[in-house]
Amino acid sequence: MKTIKFEVSNNIATITMNRPEALNALNNDFFSDMELLLSNIREDNEIRILVITGEGKAFVAGADIAEMVSMNKAEAEKFSSRGQDVFLGLEKLNMPVIAAVNGYALGGGCELAMACDIRIASSKAKFGQPEVSLGLIPGFGGTQRLPRLVGLGNALNLLLTADQISADEALRIGLVQKVTEPEQLMDEVYKLAERILSKGPHSVSLIKKVAHIGLELDFAKATRLESREFGSLFGNEGTEGMKAFLEKRKPEW
Ligand code: CAA
Repeated sequence: MKTIKFEVSNNIATITMNRPEALNALNNDFFSDMELLLSNIREDNEIRILVITGEGKAFVAGADIAEMVSMNKAEAEKFSSRGQDVFLGLEKLNMPVIAAVNGYALGGGCELAMACDIRIASSKAKFGQPEVSLGLIPGFGGTQRLPRLVGLGNALNLLLTADQISADEALRIGLVQKVTEPEQLMDEVYKLAERILSKGPHSVSLIKKVAHIGLELDFAKATRLESREFGSLFGNEGTEGMKAFLEKRKPEW
């Protein structure tokens, strides 16, 4: 693949954006690589957690400005939709996706991190939506995911000013879940992945599904969906987990 390194070990897949000379800026080659990878990951029963990180000093410094500059309106709209579809594909994967944000997560990079389920950041990471400085708006879901994650006031403050914020500030507003020393980032992320891997595999993927789908439904419908999926775990994984608790042993998933 032209833009991505991909490894799988112990049920954990890692995508590393690998165009450090352009701070891993997102171009059409990247989306082609991701489309292929996502369809392979969906078919691979061994993979139960996906980690996404970047090579070099950036996670991703945005959509590729050099590629976008010559686009016309229709091409730009198509590029935006393509990015949105790939990021939705991540959100809909039946496994947790963890962003290990190693450095700059700007524009499309912040949007990619937000399409992941959990964000762990190096203390060197920087977050922001600088599109407004380019006379643009975010095109990969940023106007929608940022308000949902940090509230409208915090989101508009970032979107309208293009300010870059530190990892600690991102933690304060709820954009990331944890900040680590740069050299501990991947250890922390893999430790988190291992903890999730030890839980009931079906409950893990159902929690992700119900939480994401429920956000798009009204409360009554969302809680009905929760009941349905709660019930689906009885007679199999849930029953085993409860029996294991009562019998004071480890569950056999
Ligand atoms: N697109 C294309 N190339 C990029 C890029 C981007 N988003 N960001 C960085 N690069 C390239 C630079 O042009 C430079 O290339 P050359 O060596 O060939 O000149 C190389 O990466 C290194 O970058 P800098 O020299 O600028 O590195 P720096 O450390 O001085 O600055 C930075 C780092 C503050 C992140 C700066 O690169 C920067 O501001 N980048 C652009 C950030 C941005 O505006 N992102 C939003 C893009 S629009 C978007 O994402 C829209 C959308 O939602 C669809």
